[in-house]
Amino acid sequence: MTDFTKTRAMFHLPDGMIYLDGNSLGPLPRAAAARLQQAAVDEWGDMLITGWNRAGWMDMPTRLGDRIGALIGAAPGNTVLGDTLSIKVYQALAAALEMRPDRRVVLSDSGNFPTDLYMAQGLLGSLNRGHELRVVAPEAVEAAIGDDIAVLMLTHVDYATGRMHDMARLTKRAQDAGAVVIWDLAHSAARCRWISPARTRNLPLAAPINTSTAGRARPHS
Ligand SMILES: Cc1ncc(COP(=O)(O)O)c(C=O)c1O
Repeated sequence: MTDFTKTRAMFHLPDGMIYLDGNSLGPLPRAAAARLQQAAVDEWGDMLITGWNRAGWMDMPTRLGDRIGALIGAAPGNTVLGDTLSIKVYQALAAALEMRPDRRVVLSDSGNFPTDLYMAQGLLGSLNRGHELRVVAPEAVEAAIGDDIAVLMLTHVDYATGRMHDMARLTKRAQDAGAVVIWDLAHSAARCRWISPARTRNLPLAAPINTSTAGRARPHS
């Protein structure tokens, strides 16, 4: 059984605070403060530009990506650490739309994380090529998948309720209809024991700081 006293001691929290925020920003791991100081002073400060090689910054996205991959059930070499999740959503959606230049609809649901939808709105507005962001109720997603959908963009686990989409089923359904699929996997690591290894035709996005999940989560499936 997890020893939560031990786990709590690994994090810096103001005295007396009970912090239940499972999204946005987790508490500071005690080890992170010293590591940040080392990166700033010993690596950036002393190594300057040579830090890219000597401190191993260059391969950090894939090295740390593999460690995140172990949490989300992805095979080594399939996970890359990047900027914030919102930026990655924007970039993945931009790339996915280029993969389906003949289609104009991005399908998502009203349970998606708000900033994911804002990213999509912003991108489609800037592209100004007649794309539509179609937002349906979570339970109506499957029926809304048709051959006009360029991209199916969903968050796997609802941060507020723990509701979980059937990822394998919706992915297959969308791919059979010719769509590219983007999954936001923030909250999935804590919600599931295992997510199938990433398939190269999908664009799964995971946020390492968002590994807890809130509310009425059902038992692991
Ligand atoms: C499900 C989900 N998607 C996206 C985001 C946005 O993440 P970021 O702040 O890294 O852009 C969050 C943040 O909490 C989230 O919980």
